[in-house]
Amino acid sequence: MPSYVIVGASRGLGYEWLRQLSTDPENTIIGLVRTPASVEAKLSSDKIANVHILQADMADHVALNNAAQEVSKITKGSLDYLIVNGVYANGDHNRLTPTAFTGHEEALRREMIRSLDVNVVGVIYSINAFLPLVHKSTIKKVVALTTGLADTDTAPKFGVPNYVVYSSMKAALNLVIARYSVELREDGIVFLALSPGIVLTSEKPPTAEDIADFQRLKQAVLKRKPEWQGPMTPSESVQLQKQVIEKTTIDESGSFLSHFGNKEWI
Ligand SMILES: NC(=O)c1ccc[n+]([C@@H]2O[C@H](COP(=O)([O-])OP(=O)(O)OC[C@H]3O[C@@H](n4cnc5c(N)ncnc54)[C@H](OP(=O)(O)O)[C@@H]3O)[C@@H](O)[C@H]2O)c1
Repeated sequence: MPSYVIVGASRGLGYEWLRQLSTDPENTIIGLVRTPASVEAKLSSDKIANVHILQADMADHVALNNAAQEVSKITKGSLDYLIVNGVYANGDHNRLTPTAFTGHEEALRREMIRSLDVNVVGVIYSINAFLPLVHKSTIKKVVALTTGLADTDTAPKFGVPNYVVYSSMKAALNLVIARYSVELREDGIVFLALSPGIVLTSEKPPTAEDIADFQRLKQAVLKRKPEWQGPMTPSESVQLQKQVIEKTTIDESGSFLSHFGNKEWI
């Protein structure tokens, strides 16, 4: 009866995690979201009954600690899998290259701080809130969702000069995960920074700017992988992520891996 907490589960990949896990009645599944009512309504309309929803913003460590206490009551004090999925991302800023922030210095600083609060600090808050429960599990897996755009080895040769804030915060997150793995290897906790691939999760119709942005990314991707067929569905990505999480052992703890379990990001 494995137990799972998905942090940031209201939509996109996080919601898909809830949906896929719910197909096995043996699983105990808890989703942390910022606005429970709308997610509960969505689960009900999708006829998903075996999921608990709790409220927590990743930037709010008090809310996360309270949620961990509630989870403890549901799972009787332990947690097998913690998946920190939520992300702060701003499409308008993601379009900008480093030099485009010239003249917008204050906007850059504000954006870095917003992203840091959720995508780095919020991940640490989430992990620290749930670690006492993970320690009591026999499975002990902690996963944070990252991106291949944060691979500092391949970035200089991948033709994407934008995503400055998002990718640098995810690169910081990768290091945080590595540090946890060093600190807690002896305790048998497996940490993983996992990139889900390129996945179509947007729920709104794309704007003209979104389309132009995607075309730029597509050109860079096709140069690297000419046979690329386009973004995956959330369902495909979560299936692959699940396989990587199952396979990762304490020897690989702290790794930054793709949905293929290697450094192939696309
Ligand atoms: N989709 C891709 O192609 C792709 C590629 C590489 C990496 N990733 C990574 O995969 C993960 C999921 O991506 P996605 O595409 O599914 O994202 P998404 O559709 O934009 O969903 C983001 C999720 O994060 C939640 N969230 C945002 N701020 C939060 C906060 N402060 N506290 C708690 N939850 C918060 C959102 O909740 P609300 O509904 O409350 O806003 C939503 O559930 C992210 O970590 C992302 O960086 C995705």
